[in-house]
This record gives sequence, C-alpha cells and structure tokens, in this order.
Amino acid sequence: MIIAIDGPAGSGKSTIARSVAERLGGVYLDSGAMYRAVAWALSQEKLLDADDTVLDRALSNLPLEFMVHDARLLILWRGVPLGLEIRTPQTAHGASTIAQKPVVRRFLLHQQRRLARGAVVVAEGRDMGTVVFPDAAVKVFLTASPEERARRRMAQYREQEMEADFEAVLQALKERDHADASRSLAPLKPADGAVVVDTSDMSISQVVEVVMNLVES
Ligand code: CDP
Repeated sequence: MIIAIDGPAGSGKSTIARSVAERLGGVYLDSGAMYRAVAWALSQEKLLDADDTVLDRALSNLPLEFMVHDARLLILWRGVPLGLEIRTPQTAHGASTIAQKPVVRRFLLHQQRRLARGAVVVAEGRDMGTVVFPDAAVKVFLTASPEERARRRMAQYREQEMEADFEAVLQALKERDHADASRSLAPLKPADGAVVVDTSDMSISQVVEVVMNLVES
C-alpha cells in the first residue's frame, strides 16, 4: 500500500509523512532527499553541468546507494551515510535544477519504485501521486502560504544551527516553487484524486489526523 504526499517546500510533507509512516508501521520514503543526494553527488564529481549522455552514464556509476534501513531511506556515498550535508540551501537549489532533467527523473523513478516494492510506504515529494505512484491508495497535496512555509524552514535551519535570513529564505522558496511548478516534466501540482490540505493554520497532529482518516476510510 502506498500513501503519496506531495507539496511545495515547507508545506509539512516530511514531518507528516514520517509521522504517518510510524503510525502505520510502514516505510517513510523521502524522495526529495534522493534529488538532493544526486545534486550533492554530481557537485562532488564536478558533473553538475554535464550533458545528458554523460549524466546518464554517470548516474548508474556513481558510488551512491539508496536502500531502506529501519523503515527509513538510507543514502550511502562511498559506503558512508549522507546526512546534513544534503540539507543546505545550495543543495536544495541544485536539486531543483537537476530535477528538471529527464535522465535524472528517470533514474530516480526506478529507484523509488524499487524501494517501495512489497511494503507499506509513505512517500513524499513533488510527483509521488502524479508520476511515481499513480495507483497510490491515498494521495494528499499539502500547501501553506509562502510566509508560513518560510517560517517553518527558518525553524529547521535554526535547529540545524545554520545561519539564515527570513527574506532570503522566502525568496529562494518562491523561486523554487516557480521552477518546480513550471517545469515541463513532472511539474508540482495535485495529482488526480488528491485531497488538497492547506496546513497554514493547522498543527502537525491535526494534519496527521486528516491523513490517517483518509487512510482508514
Ligand atoms: O525539503 P524541501 O521540500 O525544500 O525540498 P525536497 O523535498 O528536499 O526537494 C528538493 C528539490 O528536489 C525540490 O525543490 C524539487 O525540485 C526536487 N524534487 C522533485 O523534483 N521531485 C520529488 N519527488 C522530490 C523533490
């Protein structure tokens, strides 16, 4: 069974998906982390500007592995887990840029479907319900105002002890929203049959309840 949760940055996808996965005893699949990891890996290998043919070959040869461990996505780079290094604003920007490339999307789509095989999975991202898991049992699209999403992102940066300026975070978020929604391939939008939830004035537990009710109905 797949639960697909999509939405823009800061809409609460990660927190909600993690919590719903725990409640269901399922796997939490953070597809954004996969895009971030690919962007990070390509930057390490100086391949961010490579053309599609080079990229296609490089992607399957990178020392980057995706696996499920303890019901979570585990990403290894040269056998070592990747963590906070993929959470920087630079990597978010890089992820959004490479996410426009068909070779990258195709590569990650196969990986995402492989990871989800045979399990209860709560998958979150931008195209989980539209492209990767169109037959998902439940599809949710989370939104919130840009200002509220920027506030949430600021809180995350503070937790990670990263410096950030509200106006710069808001601006970067709006630019990424625009890039994600206007790209020709898998643009960010609610999937057919998705329930759209505006989380601006909702607590985390309220949103989790909405999703759990959809799962149980
Ligand atoms: O944490 P945040 O919501 O800011 O971003 P993320 O989920 O980590 O995703 C980073 C970027 O990867 C997004 O801005 C998208 O461009 C891309 N992405 C995508 O294209 N498709 C997905 N399923 C997930 C992420």
